[in-house]
Formats: sequence, C-alpha cells, structure tokens
Amino acid sequence: VGMKIDIVSVFPEYFDVLNLSLFGKAQEKGIVSVAAHNLRDWTHDVHHSVDDTPVGGGAGMVMKPAVWAECLDELLGLEPVEMGACDASEDAAADSAGVDDQPTDEQPAADASEVRIDRSEQPTAVDGIHAQPSDATDDDTQAMPQSEADAQPAAAPGTVLIFPNPSAPLFTQRDATELSHAGRLVFGCGRYEGYDARIPPYYRAQGVDVREYSIGDYVLNGGEVAVSVMLEAITRLLPGFMGNADSIVEESYTGENALLEHRQYTKPAVWRGVGVPDVLLSGDHGKVDRFRRDEALERTDRIRPDLIAKLDCRRLDKADRKT
Ligand code: ADE
Repeated sequence: VGMKIDIVSVFPEYFDVLNLSLFGKAQEKGIVSVAAHNLRDWTHDVHHSVDDTPVGGGAGMVMKPAVWAECLDELLGLEPVEMGACDASEDAAADSAGVDDQPTDEQPAADASEVRIDRSEQPTAVDGIHAQPSDATDDDTQAMPQSEADAQPAAAPGTVLIFPNPSAPLFTQRDATELSHAGRLVFGCGRYEGYDARIPPYYRAQGVDVREYSIGDYVLNGGEVAVSVMLEAITRLLPGFMGNADSIVEESYTGENALLEHRQYTKPAVWRGVGVPDVLLSGDHGKVDRFRRDEALERTDRIRPDLIAKLDCRRLDKADRKT
C-alpha cells in the first residue's frame, strides 16, 4: 500500500532529507515509500562513468543511454529490446508531457511510430494513471496476462517514469494532482548537459507512461532540485499526508479556475499600528467571501495576467465581472 517512489541520481544522498519532517512521517505511516538509487551502481567500468561527449560536437557531456537503461530496466522489470532501425527525431506527441495537450491514450501509438519496436506484439499501453497498489510489485508485473509468451512484460499499471528537463513542458498543479493518483513514480535525475534523448521515447515504446517536465524558466545544475519540487507537490496531495485537507482545497493554483489566493492575517487586529481590513472583523461571512474573491481576482490580474487569460468566463459571476 501507499505510493512507491524510486529516484535515480548520481547524488542519491541529496534525498536523505526525505527521511526528515513531514515526508519522514508519511513514510512511517505507509503513505509513501521512497528509495533513492545511485545511477553509478549500474555502470561496469572502473571509473563508473555515466556520461560521454555529445554526438555532433559541442560543449558539455551527455548521460549515456546504456547506463540509464540498465538501471530503468531493473527498476521497471523490463527486458532489453532491440529497436527497429530509426533515428531519434521527435514528433509533437513526444514533446508533450501531460494530459493537458493530448489524451494520454494516444501517447503509446504516436510514440511507437517514432521508435519502432522490433516485435510482432506491442506491449499493452498503460491507459492513463490507475493506481493499483496490489499490482505494484515486480512479482505481480510478471504475472500480468500476456498474449504472447515472449511479449515484453509491461511496467506495472499506474507506474509513471518522470524526467526533469528544462526544455520540457511546465509542471503544473494539474500534473501534480494527476500524478498523485499513480501507484508508482520513478524519477530520473539528469546531470551535466542532460541525458540521451532516446531514453524517453524508448520507454514509451515499451508501454511505459513517460513524462518530461520543467519546473520553471530557469536552468538548474541538475534534476535533483526539480525532482524534490515535483515530489513535494505530488505527495502532499496524498490522503493523510497533510493534517488539514481543507488547506489543500482552498489554496492557489487548485481547481479549474485557479486564482492567486487572497491575503491572510492573524491576530492582533492592529500590529505596530497596521490594521487588518475592517471587513474581516465584521463577522459578515458573505461580505468576507466577496472581499476575498475580489482581492484574489485583482491580485491575479495584476501579478499573473496569464492565469486570468486562462479563466473560464462561464464560471465568473456578475460580481466577479465588476472586479
Ligand atoms: N534541470 C535543469 N533545470 C531544470 C528545470 N528548470 N526544470 C526541470 N529540470 C531541470
């Protein structure tokens, strides 16, 4: 039971902090279990090298596909597959991470044309995310019904493989909510100038739900911080993780009509001569709600006009329009 999380990194110690605080408690309660793995454990050379120079030239190093694949095959319970002749040219489908831009059930077909599989039988596509905790073990994966004896055993349903990547679609609250329903998440942290671009489409062709996300328009040294951000955004949504479920429902970026939150105050009503808005002291809940909604709309319009542009007009009431 609980969400199973694997993280692969060349700095697995970075994730030692997950044993502390809220996350540590959630692990004790069995809501999540996290294992951080060292990618270098899947190397065979004396130097444990995980990267190489870019094909086509240029600065920096790129993480080698073979090392990642040995690691991911083991974690996902997949056999190595020799693909049909192809190159890694990407199509629009592979460029898109979440369900925002395309139905999930179209991903495997679209990507199978990108990297052709050298088998008569395609693995069963994982259709969306369905957490099936009882099916989440390697043993059960082997036991899944296969139409051909030699067909690739698909990764357990509800497994999502996630790569942080500054050149990918933005990770949003909607993605966090969707991924909080997965039974298992496997994060691959890239370092240096990134990982070989053939890895995500290869695993998609194996029937794995693969996502690449950026956490913002800035560049970090590696995927570790980005994975921490996504992990926290996802796991805090798990039932029982947070003490107060109401505080999740009410906050910014939640729901279809996401607005920035109104400002919050606590006692005293006057602090160092600065008072709180009078209406909040009125005891009139209708007026308080309207005041907060107006402030949320006004602040969003001023600070994040991009969110206002995305609002569904049909869900604004007359009073909203005045704001
Ligand atoms: N790796 C480096 N920068 C990143 C970003 N902004 N988002 C996700 N992964 C990254």
